[in-house]
Amino acid sequence: MTDHRPADLLEKVVNLTKRRGFIFPSADIYGGFRSAYDYGPLGVNMLRNVKAAWWRSMVQLRGDIVGIDAAILGPPAIWAASGHLETFTDPLVDCLRCKERWREDKIDGVCPQCGGTEFTEARAFNLMFKTHAGPVEGEGAAAYLRPETAQGMFTNFANVLAATRRKPPFGIAQVGKSFRNEITPQNFVFRTREFEQMEMEYFVPPAEADHWYRYWIETRYAWYRDLGIPENQLRLHEHAPEDLSHYSRGTTDVEYLFPWGFDELEGVANRGDYDLTQHAAASGVRLEYFDQASGERYVPWVIEPAAGATRAMMAFLLAAYAEDEVAGETRVVLRLDSRLSPYQVAVLPLSRKPELEAVAQEVAARLRPLVMVDYDVTQSIGRRYRRQDEIGTPLCVTVDFDSLEDHAVTLRDRDTTAQVRVGIGGVVDEVRGRLGLS
Ligand code: GAP
Repeated sequence: MTDHRPADLLEKVVNLTKRRGFIFPSADIYGGFRSAYDYGPLGVNMLRNVKAAWWRSMVQLRGDIVGIDAAILGPPAIWAASGHLETFTDPLVDCLRCKERWREDKIDGVCPQCGGTEFTEARAFNLMFKTHAGPVEGEGAAAYLRPETAQGMFTNFANVLAATRRKPPFGIAQVGKSFRNEITPQNFVFRTREFEQMEMEYFVPPAEADHWYRYWIETRYAWYRDLGIPENQLRLHEHAPEDLSHYSRGTTDVEYLFPWGFDELEGVANRGDYDLTQHAAASGVRLEYFDQASGERYVPWVIEPAAGATRAMMAFLLAAYAEDEVAGETRVVLRLDSRLSPYQVAVLPLSRKPELEAVAQEVAARLRPLVMVDYDVTQSIGRRYRRQDEIGTPLCVTVDFDSLEDHAVTLRDRDTTAQVRVGIGGVVDEVRGRLGLS
């Protein structure tokens, strides 16, 4: 088998994901809504799996991190204190020739549309979506859609501390939608105006901040490796001091080798005491930790691994896409980790004969409590294997005429295409074992 990343990888993945129901352009029947995407029947499974894998590693398998789910709409006070009202801006320029608007730092002085080289002076464009809450418009009712999930963890710091009696180091995690009015959304779901983040704020004693900063860089890098991104498609990039965000004392990005080059997948930042200090000053509420044993009171520092769920899903899809040769034919296969695949098992009756379908439905029913099962009875079995390979289903279970006699089915592996016969009574355990489920 030969593997390669084709030159037109992005186009191939975009086409595949639309055709097979992972990701659709939003408002498609109205010609689309630039930069918004809808997740289809397969995409929603996969996106849920990405978020579940993150939650499992960040919350479930650890004792030191708890979750929250905060509101998306917030009052201006939060965003004034966080610094977003003032500094969450990108430099906006207009091309003097074609009038198109661009983010100055992304175009190297040349208009990507008309090649023009003359622009207006850059002005600071705030990326937050502003709206008004309630029926009365006006400043008193102003509200913002959150541009990051992080602030929900800071504004709930005291509530969580009181409710859970945690002691630093401990973390608060959240997965949810964020909104940024990006000037140039681009590259499929890499940069969109509506996206999902997976963020965790880890509150630590100030003296331990550097240790935890390094720890989280390594831990987050390892998460992508564990879920199948090859080492040569991942790297770490430490920001130069002049490139740091307003809140950061150090940031290292985990970068993925996207088709246009290495680019940010996730940022790990040492936010110091910036956020808790800002919110304490603005709200008048003490945001500190009081250690009863030592009598010490301090503002914890924050280490933040901030990932994008939708961007991570795109990276997993790109890394998994392969074309190889099976029995003299080229096939497209998504070599997704089984934890991320939209379906873990496909059940395929060889024909529509009712006796076969009855057995196949029974096998599917046995597997459904354990994994997501696709059931497909259309077209030839070879075509059906290809269709499952293309969406990354790791295992196919085929029910054939022999199954009626020997009460066994054929289990086929996506990556090796090897097939073995397994008794129907043992299918669930076999699938469990192969997928590494407990
Ligand atoms: N709380 C810190 C924070 O939000 P960020 O680097 O701006 O940091 C974190 O965002 C992650 O969120 C990024 O690494 C990326 O994966 C994702 N992200 C940010 N903006 C995005 C956008 N417009 N579209 C898709 N994902 C985005």
